Amino acid sequence: MPITNPVEMDETMEGVLAKLRAHPQYPGLFKKAFGTPEVTGPRMMKALSQFMVMLVSANAKYDSVMRKQGPVFTADEQAGYVIFKNKCSSCHTEPLFTDHSFRNNGIGIGYNGDEGRYTATLNPADKYRFKVPSLRNLAYTAPYMHDGRLLNLDAVLDHYTGECRICLRSIRC
Ligand code: HEC
Repeated sequence: MPITNPVEMDETMEGVLAKLRAHPQYPGLFKKAFGTPEVTGPRMMKALSQFMVMLVSANAKYDSVMRKQGPVFTADEQAGYVIFKNKCSSCHTEPLFTDHSFRNNGIGIGYNGDEGRYTATLNPADKYRFKVPSLRNLAYTAPYMHDGRLLNLDAVLDHYTGECRICLRSIRC
């Protein structure tokens, strides 16, 4: 869906396939994986799904600490963990840091006018409820929130504390 959704990548499958076919490396990689260099929709989908199932996150320091494998949190990490448990984990529930629900975290309307789950249910109570995202590998996945309006993690913390230390594109500014 994100590939063709107009408010996400706004591409066509044919457009993606054409780019892959014209790429200096991909036809060779398709040959290696599938036996011949043809770049087709089903092959691209198979490659993409194999890539996604390989994205397993279970070996952060957090995981070693929780599994009692030796490493322990520093005093700062422990203090942060306590704040996290108190303020964040009701929605970002361990160990995946999501409870898989749809919630309103105060994000409100953004530049693309996305009203969240309401768009699907038409239930006014669902306005600005978005799927609670996992926070694993978070440092690598900027920008943040459904429309990417928060460019870094400081801005995320500003959102949750309600202050703006760095003025980015947050609607609270
Ligand atoms: C009431 C439930 C709730 C609580 C409590 C909550 N969040 Fe969230 N969080 C969400 C939802 C829902 C989103 C997705 C919003 C969106 O897509 O616009 C989100 C998004 C995020 C994101 C962006 C992730 C991404 O990949 O874009 C981060 C980071 C985050 N929260 C961190 C925190 C931290 C840190 C706390 C505690 C200070 C916290 N959250 C408390 C519901 C919550």
